[in-house]
Amino acid sequence: MTEIAGKAAVVTGGGNGIGMGLAKELARQGASVAVADIILENAQQVANAIKATGGKAVAIACDVCDRDSIRRTKEAANAALGPIQLVFANAGATSFDPLMKMSDEDVDWILDVNLKGVMYTARAFLPDMIAAREGHICATASMAGLLPGWIPQHTPYSAAKAGIIGLMMNAQLELKEFNIHTTSYCPGGVATGMRINNARYRPARYGGPGEKEVHLGDENREQSSLKFYRPEDIAPMVLNAVRNNRPFVFDHPEQRALFRKTYASVVESCYDDADKWLREHGEPTANPHGADLLDAQK
Ligand SMILES: NC(=O)c1ccc[n+]([C@@H]2O[C@H](COP(=O)([O-])OP(=O)(O)OC[C@H]3O[C@@H](n4cnc5c(N)ncnc54)[C@H](O)[C@@H]3O)[C@@H](O)[C@H]2O)c1
Repeated sequence: MTEIAGKAAVVTGGGNGIGMGLAKELARQGASVAVADIILENAQQVANAIKATGGKAVAIACDVCDRDSIRRTKEAANAALGPIQLVFANAGATSFDPLMKMSDEDVDWILDVNLKGVMYTARAFLPDMIAAREGHICATASMAGLLPGWIPQHTPYSAAKAGIIGLMMNAQLELKEFNIHTTSYCPGGVATGMRINNARYRPARYGGPGEKEVHLGDENREQSSLKFYRPEDIAPMVLNAVRNNRPFVFDHPEQRALFRKTYASVVESCYDDADKWLREHGEPTANPHGADLLDAQK
C-alpha cells in the first residue's frame, strides 16, 4: 500500500486539466502538493485553490523538457514541503499531424515533453526516495501508447507515450527493493485544455509559444465520438491505483474490447514464422554468452 494522507507530492503539469485534478484530489486526501507547471500563473491558481480549502500547496515554475529546471523544481518543492514521496509526472502536450508535415522542432518537442520530461522528473526525485526507501512514481502515459494503431496522425506522441510505459515497467524492476512503486496512467479521453492550443506550452528552444489548435481529422472520427471524463472524475481512480501499487490504470472500460482484440490478434499471428522455424529446425543454437549474462545479473 502507498499512503496518500500525510505525504508530500509533486504534480508536473499541475496547472491545468488532469494534473490540476490530481493536485486537488491529493490535497483533499491529505497530501501536501507542489504544483509545477510551465505556466506559473495556472500553477498559482491551483495552489491557491488548495490553500483556500485548508490544504498545503506551493506553485513552482517548471519546464520538464529542461533537466536543470526539473532539478530546481525539486529543490523548491523540498524547501516548501520537505522530502517528496509521491511523484506525478504528468506534464505533456499532444499533436495530431501527419508525421512528415511536422517540423523537426515540433517532433523534438513532442518527444521531449512527453518522454524525456518523465525521465528527467523521475531521476530528479528518485535519489531522495531511494534513500528513504519509500515512494511512488505515477506517469501519465496514454491509451495512444498502448494502442498506437488506434488514433492516426499521432506518431511522435504515441512513440513517447509507449516509451513512458516501458520506462515505468522497467524501472519498477530495480525500484521494488527500495519499496518504490510505479504506475502508468493511460487516459483514454479526459476533457482538458489538451485540444485547445498545445503550442502555448512550447518552450523557446522548440520555437516558443504559438497558436495551434489541435484538429481531429476525418480519420479520427471514431476517436472524436468518445465520451470524455472530467479531471475530477478520474483523479480518485488514479490515486486508488497508486494506493494499491497497481502498475496501470485505465479510465475507459469500453476500450477493453479494442485492447483485447489488438493484443490477441498480435499474439495469435506474430509467432507463426518462429513456430514454423522451430518445427523445421528444432531448438535454436544456444547463446554462448547466456550463462555469463546470467552470472553478471546475480
Ligand atoms: N486529456 C486526455 O484525453 C489525455 C489523453 C491521454 C493522455 N493525456 C495526457 O495527460 C497529461 C495531462 O494533459 P491534459 O489532458 O491535462 O492537458 P492540459 O493541456 O489541460 O494540461 C497539460 C499541462 O501541462 C503543462 N505543461 C505543458 N508543457 C509543459 C512543460 N514543458 N513543463 C511543465 N509543464 C508543462 C501545461 O501548462 C498544462 O498545465 C499529458 O501528459 C497528456 O499527454 C491526456
